[in-house]
Order: sequence, then C-alpha cells, then structure tokens
Amino acid sequence: FDAIGVLTSGGDAPAMNAAVRAVARTALNRGIRVYGVHRGYSGLLSGDLRRMSSASVSNIIQRGGTILKSDRCEAFYQAETRQKAADILREHGVQALITIGGDGTLTGAHLFTRETGIPVVGLPGSIDNDIPGTDDSIGFDTAVNTAIGAIDRIRDTALSHERLFLVEVMGRNSGYIATQVGIACGAEMILIPEYPTPVESIGYTLADNRRTGKGSSGIIVVAEGPEPGLTGRLAEQLRIFGEEARVCILGHIQRGGSPSAHDRVLASCMGVTAVDYLLAGYSDIMVGCDGRALKPVSLAHVSGGRKRPPQLYQIALQLHK
Ligand code: F6P
Repeated sequence: FDAIGVLTSGGDAPAMNAAVRAVARTALNRGIRVYGVHRGYSGLLSGDLRRMSSASVSNIIQRGGTILKSDRCEAFYQAETRQKAADILREHGVQALITIGGDGTLTGAHLFTRETGIPVVGLPGSIDNDIPGTDDSIGFDTAVNTAIGAIDRIRDTALSHERLFLVEVMGRNSGYIATQVGIACGAEMILIPEYPTPVESIGYTLADNRRTGKGSSGIIVVAEGPEPGLTGRLAEQLRIFGEEARVCILGHIQRGGSPSAHDRVLASCMGVTAVDYLLAGYSDIMVGCDGRALKPVSLAHVSGGRKRPPQLYQIALQLHK
C-alpha cells in the first residue's frame, strides 16, 4: 500500500488515541502514507482526511477521547453512501482503511469492504466490551476502573447513612462492565440484561439481608440496559418492599479519562497488528483478543453475532451473600 486511512467511530473509548498512534507509527515506519479521517464515517463522507506524521501522534498515548473525533453516522447504513465514501478514499489515493470502534462501526466496515473491495481491518474500541469475537476491547478496563473509583466513594456515604444505592453503569444491552465492576466493588447485587432478575427477587433478597444482620446499606450495580430510566424505575418499584434506595447514574464519566496501562498496551498491540494484517493481505477482519493472544476474526462473524453473556456473572452470584 502507498497510503492508508485510520478513523475512530461510535462512542469514544479511552486508549483509542493509543491505537491511532500505533497504526500511524507502524505504517509510517513501513513507508506508507497515513491519513487521519476526522469525525468517523461522517468525516469520510465530507472528505475530512488529514495527512499524519509521526509527530502528529506525539503526546497522545496518555489522553482520553480521540484526537480524530468520533460520531455515530446514520447515513453510512445506506449502500450508496458507502460507495460515495469509497470514491472519496480513491480520490485521495487511500487504498485501505483501519476503523476503530464498536459493533456499529465494525458492521459498517464489513459492508463497506464487501461492497467496494477496499481492504479494511477493524479494531474493537468500546467501553462496553460487547463485541463478538474478542475477549477484550479498547477502553473497557479504563471504564471499569473509573466506575470502581466512583463506587468506592459511594460506599463510604452509603455506610455512614446506612443507605441502599442503585448505581447505574454503562453498557447498552450488555452486562460486562456491571459484572466486572460489581465483583470488584463487592456489590450486594449485580443486575444485567443478559440474566434479568425479577424485582420481587431483588426485594426479597434485600429483606433477607436485613433479617440475617447484613445491614441496610449496600450497593446494587445496575447495567443501563436498552431503555433509558431503568434504574429510576427500579428504585420506585423497590419502595413497595420498604426500600428507600438512592440512585446514582455514572454515565459518560466512564467514557473519559486517561487510559489504564492495560488499555494503552492492548491498543498499541492491536494497532501494530492491524497494519501487519493489512500488509499480509488480510481484509474484512477485526483484530480480536483470545485470552492474551491476538488473532484475526471475520467481520462477518462480528457484525452478525452476539457476544456470549459474561461468564464471570456466575462467580458474582456466589459472592452476593
Ligand atoms: O457504546 C458505548 C456507550 O457508552 C454505551 O455504553 C452507551 O449506552 C452509549 O455508548 C451512549 O451513547 P451516546 O454517548 O451516543 O449517548
């Protein structure tokens, strides 16, 4: 390849910058020109491609967010829009693309390469860690640690006032963040969409905790789920069981901040590997993580599939009481 493009798309995730840096430096070291596409697929459609140098990715590995900016691009769901994007890449002499983002981004990448023949390699970038075909995703570890820091603080006030807190963490349709955070914070209960818990069962468990002297304070970690307002509604329903729960929604705090060491290293390894895969002739794949090893995963599998529920949830259930 003479030139490749790199973009970030969908919800941003800590260490996306580390991935962009690794892609840019690896390609430049191989004598390939690199274009940063700004604002994801929207920027691609408006031709916002900027030539990158080694210096343009200096001092970014420790920064949250993405220097390339990101957005969710509805227009990219249409086939004719994807053809237009391919034309724009060809006009700039860009022969391949590396896309960093979640399942929407990777599905777009899969359709784009299949329809246009322009080689694409994807990197899993999402705090949710809900992408099929990979055990880990860029930003997940940082988001989990951010949530843990917040909940440790909430625990202090919960104990002082002997209160019950419902803490909502991110993860649309996915309980990976909630499970990891819940175990690490010693949550009294973890509620995730993959294994729905009836409100009666929550109420009886809390009553049981009181009876057995476990006390009236506590933390329930709730995954946000597909519909907004879930945690507030749950607090209302728990009133029937005599529980006066406080609600705390951690929200976008989990998306920002300086990436953890784990995410910086993961993103760096994935970025280098993405360029290696492109040069080895791979396309229509994502760099996936199988345990500690990186491997190519078909984007068809990623875009059609569903990630298995978090296995650690079974461990969490052993620790509730
Ligand atoms: O996919 C990442 C994520 O942070 C989800 O956990 C959350 O539901 C969603 O993005 C929020 O998206 P937005 O920032 O577009 O509101």
